[in-house]
Amino acid sequence: MEVSYAELAATAVKPGQYPTGGLPEFVFAGKSNVGKSSLLNAMAGRKALARTSGSPGKTRVINFFNINNLCMFVDLPGYGYARVSRAESRKWGCMIERYLLNRGQIKAVFLLLDIRHDPTALDRQMLEWLSHYGFDIIAVATKSDKIKRSALPGRLKALRESTGIKDILPFSSENKGGRDELWGIILEKISDSTKLL
Ligand code: GTP
Ligand code: MG
Repeated sequence: MEVSYAELAATAVKPGQYPTGGLPEFVFAGKSNVGKSSLLNAMAGRKALARTSGSPGKTRVINFFNINNLCMFVDLPGYGYARVSRAESRKWGCMIERYLLNRGQIKAVFLLLDIRHDPTALDRQMLEWLSHYGFDIIAVATKSDKIKRSALPGRLKALRESTGIKDILPFSSENKGGRDELWGIILEKISDSTKLL
């Protein structure tokens, strides 16, 4: 997928700041430092559209990126960052929950899991919450370049078993592995949603 236009459309902490226009939205969620912003950059074919960092807790607001005027990629702040106060983490939780529960144009939520690790309690909680509210969830195993190719099937199996999700898509922002597959999913969901109109 060739992305000719990619811009930050809005930075929001509350609904009045969300972008208008009604483009379909694809949300990237997951633990802090799992690679959400990097994946979004890789999908957009840009180096630094979304800010990434070696230190967790980089993204603290909801960032909406307009991609080709076709859809929005929504970069959420990560959860589970230990050095954030309880009050602040509750505030983020409310901000994310308010967005997810009041935004009709969300077409899918990509839940990112580090391919090297089993899901944490917070990952499971997020997964349960998303399925409880009926979101279309796609699990993505990030940083696939960090493991040997031979270890891939075993890690995917472990993640399938621990999440109960059948299809887990391996992804690497480093070598762009999984990019075409992820775009395939996104384009299919956009076309499904326009068919329903
Ligand atoms: P928060 O904004 O803190 O929630 O983090 P995030 O999930 O947006 O993570 P981010 O994209 O900032 O990446 C965190 C770190 O992991 C950075 O140092 C990235 O360079 C690195 N990283 C992300 N994706 C990959 C990947 O696919 N492969 C490798 N090798 N490193 C990655
Ligand atoms: Mg980020």
